[in-house]
Amino acid sequence: MSRTIGFIGAGKIVDIMLGALGPTLTDDEVWVWNRTVARSEALAARYPVRVASSIGELAERSDWLFVAVKPHAVAKVLAEACLSVRSDTLVVSMAAGVTIASIKSHFTAPPAIVRIMPNLPLSVGLGMTAICPDEGVPAEDVDALLAMFSTVGRARLVEERLFDTVTALSGSGPAFAFLFIESMADGAVLNGMDRVQAYEFAAQTVMGAARIILESAKHPGELKDIVASPAGTTMAGIHSLERKAFRAIVMDAVDAAARRSKELNG
Ligand SMILES: NC(=O)c1ccc[n+]([C@@H]2O[C@H](COP(=O)([O-])OP(=O)(O)OC[C@H]3O[C@@H](n4cnc5c(N)ncnc54)[C@H](OP(=O)(O)O)[C@@H]3O)[C@@H](O)[C@H]2O)c1
Repeated sequence: MSRTIGFIGAGKIVDIMLGALGPTLTDDEVWVWNRTVARSEALAARYPVRVASSIGELAERSDWLFVAVKPHAVAKVLAEACLSVRSDTLVVSMAAGVTIASIKSHFTAPPAIVRIMPNLPLSVGLGMTAICPDEGVPAEDVDALLAMFSTVGRARLVEERLFDTVTALSGSGPAFAFLFIESMADGAVLNGMDRVQAYEFAAQTVMGAARIILESAKHPGELKDIVASPAGTTMAGIHSLERKAFRAIVMDAVDAAARRSKELNG
C-alpha cells in the first residue's frame, strides 16, 4: 500500500533512514520539513523526497509523520504541527526520552502514536529498532513498521517502560562498540600492527563474536570459556579486563546513558 510519509527534521538519523530504507519506500511519497531549509534541500538532492514549505503542510499530507528532531525541540514542532495532523495520521516519534504521554498532551484529539528507537547500523542493514505502539494503534500499522525496519536489520516490540534502556543499549551502544573496537585496535598498534589492518581485524572480530551470540543461542560466558584455554593468552587478557572492572565500567555506561535518557524527558 502506498503512503505519504513525512519527516519533521532532516538530521543524521533521517539521512541514514532515507539511505537505508530507500528500496522499501519506492511506492511511497516522501516529504521532509526542517528548520534549516538547506538541510532538507540537501536531502532532496540525494533522495527522491520533496521539501514541505511548513510543518503544517507536511502534517496535512502525511499518513505517517515521523518526528526526528532533537528531544528538546519536540514540544516546539508538535505545537506547530498539532492542528494540521489528520485524525487518521500515524505519528512516529524517534526522539530519545520523549514519552508517548508527552506527545499526546499536544493534541486535543490525539492521533495514533508510536515511539521507535532505531540505531545507526541500519545504514548497513544491521539495525536494531525498538517499536512501542500506543494503545489503539492499528495492528496493520504496527506490522508495517516492523516489516519496514526488518528490511534494514531487526525490529522488535518493546514496552515503553524499557525505552530509556533501549536508548542506552542499542541507540548509544554503537558508540560504545566503536570505542571498544578502537581500543582493541590501539592495543594491536601498540604491538606493531598497521592501524588500518588493526581496525579491520578488530571490527571483523567483534562482528563475528556478535553473530555467534545471535546465531548459536549460547550464553556469552560459555562462548568465552570456549576461547579461553587454561594459562592461555585469552585468559591473561580477561584477567587484565576483570582487574580493572571492565564489566562494571560497561554496565555503568549503559546505566548512565539510560539515566540521561530519563532526564531528557524530565
Ligand atoms: N542519530 C541516531 O543514531 C539516532 C537514533 C535514534 C534516534 N535518534 C533521535 O533522532 C532525533 C534526531 O537525531 P539526529 O541524530 O538526526 O540529530 P541531528 O543530526 O543533530 O539533527 C537534529 C535535528 O533536530 C532539529 N532541531 C534541533 N533543534 C531544533 C529546534 N529548536 N527547532 C526545530 N528543529 C530543531 C535540527 O534542525 P536544524 O537542521 O535546523 O538544526 C535537525 O533536524 C533525536 O531526537 C535523537 O534522539 C537519533
